[in-house]
Amino acid sequence: MIRSSAFLLSIVFLTSCVNDKEEGPLVTDASLFELSQSVSSFSYYKNTLDTLPADPSSEHFNFVRVRFNPTAKQAMDDSTKALVAGSFPDGSMIVKEIYATSGGPLTQLAIMYKLKNAANNGSGWVWSTLQPDGASIYSSSEKGGLCVGCHSSGVHSDLVQTFALH
Ligand code: HEC
Repeated sequence: MIRSSAFLLSIVFLTSCVNDKEEGPLVTDASLFELSQSVSSFSYYKNTLDTLPADPSSEHFNFVRVRFNPTAKQAMDDSTKALVAGSFPDGSMIVKEIYATSGGPLTQLAIMYKLKNAANNGSGWVWSTLQPDGASIYSSSEKGGLCVGCHSSGVHSDLVQTFALH
């Protein structure tokens, strides 16, 4: 009797482990692009539209502007300067607008989208770089292989680099 209930318990335990790791959806570049386009619902870093010179350690030159969707913003302080919750919740989107010159035309969008169980997540985020018209430069299907190393190095907040550098 004892042995069979231990067996039953181990089955229940194993099943719940499997369920926790259930693979979620594959997040496409097209859906990331669409989510990134509701610009007016986003909050800009430090609540300002100024472009910032990209940090020398950055992959994305020359000037950047970072914005947060409402789900990401909920985890941040009023001045949109720092993460105050322990981490960004699922559904958070961070878009970095990349400009060749300050005030010049937009050249690229670099996107992080938090979905911990996405089939194509890399360390809990989905990563993509797009042309301003949505054409893919670095696809979300790559699982952030190019992005995660840098983003998890140095001082970061849930892999976000901007707060410590700007
Ligand atoms: C060589 C290091 C490096 C690599 C590689 C890199 N990044 Fe970044 N990223 C940075 C730095 C530094 C910042 C801070 C803002 C700045 O100065 O550009 C940043 C900022 C960002 C931001 C704004 C949120 C934040 O973390 O501050 C997004 C979104 C982003 N990167 C996406 C990507 C994506 C997508 C890739 C992979 C295609 C990638 N990054 C690869 C260094 C890197």
